[in-house]
Amino acid sequence: MPRKIYGFVSRSRDCSPGGWYAGAVMETRVCPWWLAYSFDNPLRRLAHPPEKLLSDWVRPGMTVLDIGCGIGHFSLGMARLVGPGGRVIAADLQEQALAVVERRARRAGLADRITTLRCTADSCRAAVPVNFALAFWMLHETPSAEAFCRQIAGALAPGGRFLVAEPAFHVGQDDFDVELAAAARAGLRLIDRPRVRFSRAALFGI
Ligand SMILES: C[S@@+](CC[C@H](N)C(=O)[O-])C[C@H]1O[C@@H](n2cnc3c(N)ncnc32)[C@H](O)[C@@H]1O
Repeated sequence: MPRKIYGFVSRSRDCSPGGWYAGAVMETRVCPWWLAYSFDNPLRRLAHPPEKLLSDWVRPGMTVLDIGCGIGHFSLGMARLVGPGGRVIAADLQEQALAVVERRARRAGLADRITTLRCTADSCRAAVPVNFALAFWMLHETPSAEAFCRQIAGALAPGGRFLVAEPAFHVGQDDFDVELAAAARAGLRLIDRPRVRFSRAALFGI
């Protein structure tokens, strides 16, 4: 059966005409870390300015989770928003992505606010309760949206918020509705449907 992965339709198990889509990526639906460079570039700051997009929910002193952080576009912005007294947990499956986040954090002088966390597809619980969690363009890559949302619900501090944004070009409205239903079953309460460019988005609480 052909599978659609980030706009590529693959008929083979290695998910690409040339076989470049390799390793664990081909067995799951995970965006390879280096593909993030194709959308995580200076132009992205115009479409998804992290501080502007998240400033309603991320405040100085907070502990926040950027899950599926990729190469850290939002982790860096969140680190600026939480300030010197706050903490960002940047979590991803892919070690190479986390290495890029660490390098970018050092260059930006934000390394003391960002902790990287390697997780597995089935398990990624921050060790501390978080005031805000972000899953940007990643929920559709998880093996079970419901199990994933249940973990996030368990990681949120009282009053905490969870923002999900899915790429509209890749996740249709029907699929997004299925994710919203999974989130509800996982105990997340839909609070708002914020507008996020090129995305379908939802804000949850517990
Ligand atoms: C399309 S990228 C988006 C990266 C980042 N959120 C952004 O918007 O720039 C999706 C990322 O989610 C990560 N990911 C996928 N499933 C995950 C899971 N179950 N737990 C943690 N990270 C996951 C992938 O490794 C990949 O780096």
